[in-house]
Amino acid sequence: MGKSEDTIISLQHVTKRFKDGFVAVEDFNLDIKRGEFVTLLGPSGCGKTTTLRMIAGFDIPSEGTILLNGRDITKLPPYKRPVNTVFQHYALFPNLDVYDNVAFGLKMKRVPKEVKGWNGKTKTKMVRLSAEEIDRRVARALEIVDMEELEDRNIASLSGGQQQRVAIARAIVNEPEVLLLDEPLSALDHKKRLDMQLELKEMHEKLGITFIYVTHDQEEALSMSNTIVVMKDGAIMQVGTPESIYNEPVNAYVADFIGESNIYNAIVSGSKEVRFLAAKWACVDDFPLGEKVDVVIRPEDVVLDEPGKGNVDGLIVSSVFKGEDYCYVVKVGRSELECRDHVARAVGTKVSARVLPENIQVMHKEITENEFRDCSIDRDGNLLIGDDALKCDLTVLLKGSVLDSDDPSIIVDQKANKKYALADAEVSAAFDFDAVSFTDDLSEEGPEATVLTSVWVGDHYQILARTAEEDDYIAVTPYQYAEGEIVKVKVDPKKIKLRLRKGLDEYECRD
Ligand SMILES: Nc1ncnc2c1ncn2[C@@H]1O[C@H](COP(=O)(O)OP(=O)(O)OP(=O)(O)O)[C@@H](O)[C@H]1O
Ligand SMILES: [Mg+2]
Repeated sequence: MGKSEDTIISLQHVTKRFKDGFVAVEDFNLDIKRGEFVTLLGPSGCGKTTTLRMIAGFDIPSEGTILLNGRDITKLPPYKRPVNTVFQHYALFPNLDVYDNVAFGLKMKRVPKEVKGWNGKTKTKMVRLSAEEIDRRVARALEIVDMEELEDRNIASLSGGQQQRVAIARAIVNEPEVLLLDEPLSALDHKKRLDMQLELKEMHEKLGITFIYVTHDQEEALSMSNTIVVMKDGAIMQVGTPESIYNEPVNAYVADFIGESNIYNAIVSGSKEVRFLAAKWACVDDFPLGEKVDVVIRPEDVVLDEPGKGNVDGLIVSSVFKGEDYCYVVKVGRSELECRDHVARAVGTKVSARVLPENIQVMHKEITENEFRDCSIDRDGNLLIGDDALKCDLTVLLKGSVLDSDDPSIIVDQKANKKYALADAEVSAAFDFDAVSFTDDLSEEGPEATVLTSVWVGDHYQILARTAEEDDYIAVTPYQYAEGEIVKVKVDPKKIKLRLRKGLDEYECRD
């Protein structure tokens, strides 16, 4: 088989196509090592839960194979897999105490036992676990989640964090080889979440089993995992250690998702030189002259100095003290640069910024559609790209939902009777080139942009226009536009694909 000995789970060409034809996971290939803490990280809807459900056996792949210890388990029912899951919405039994919640599954369990028959021959019978065995296992599970003192307590009397621990104890009491955790901390507040992250890591070490963890929170992924799998649209973008993914993201999508970063549309302006923020910057990568590239700069790599001394000058427009250092936003032209620095500086101070060439990460850009990260939804339910508001259709975020009749930033799931308030939600947006058109009638609404390039491709022009905030819109049109021409950008709202950074659940209206 050629698989290394210590691979516990191997997903090979796994694809999940739902009945409605939607492909949630596509050609997913991943080997997970025994004892590893692996995190699937990605925005809402990228297929994390679907992947986990296939490993657990709740969903069967449409194509591909899942191996466990080298054995094909693709179609094995969940209860026959040495795998347990902690769900985001763990349902504890409210009428049972902590002990009985954890012991519940064990009391139902039958295990094979060799028994001597009347004729003296041994045979295998399925028997219940003994009370002592159940006691031993529950005690160990409660000890691992640090709840042994509270075993007689009612579920209703526990805090959110304590309930979460019971849910974990309930999953590990079966002594699984693999524990799947689907956003288990999302119900907790920020401080509790940090505490539980540390504890989960400790539990992982104590148990010595494989953890497969799902989150859209990059900090969580960085602090807990041995390996991070960054996902987008059902596919793997990058697999690596937290350090390698943070330091060497393979594309701007990963860079944006992992940690704070400044990402710019840049153009290669010379040998080992790129142009962005209206300035030229030395870098260490050599790309073809004129190529459009993505540039990523981590805030901690920006060096601030007196005006005129660095590469570009700018103005500090915001300053937040972060305990160890300050986090600044420097306005450079109409763009922003995020920086971190130990020196206290006031808002309104003029500064210059420079970056060492090796800290300017230049990445090849494959442009197949218009793509905007770091967008948000405004109070009117529009998509905000920079300062520009575009009409969009929020109901694409949830199949079968409709807009609220009173508030255009709220979508309603009528079947489940739930509402989601999306004002200020962070999203990314994408739309095909043919969703975009340009007009030279500047009285029309829409982002204003300058045509940078106009290329004849086969039977039409592909035209790129850039706004003052350096957002690029690409359109395909039969018409030619002159380079340097000012246009208004129109985007067909129906063709805008939206993706939430966080799960939809985070926006549920609870009133
Ligand atoms: N039973 C189903 N039928 C059709 N589409 C589905 C089904 N289950 C999930 N999907 C779709 O598959 C995509 C991936 O869903 P999945 O739940 O795996 O995402 P996720 O990464 O876990 O997102 P979140 O962070 O919001 O939990 C979504 O677009 C979802 O609407
Ligand atoms: Mg999910």
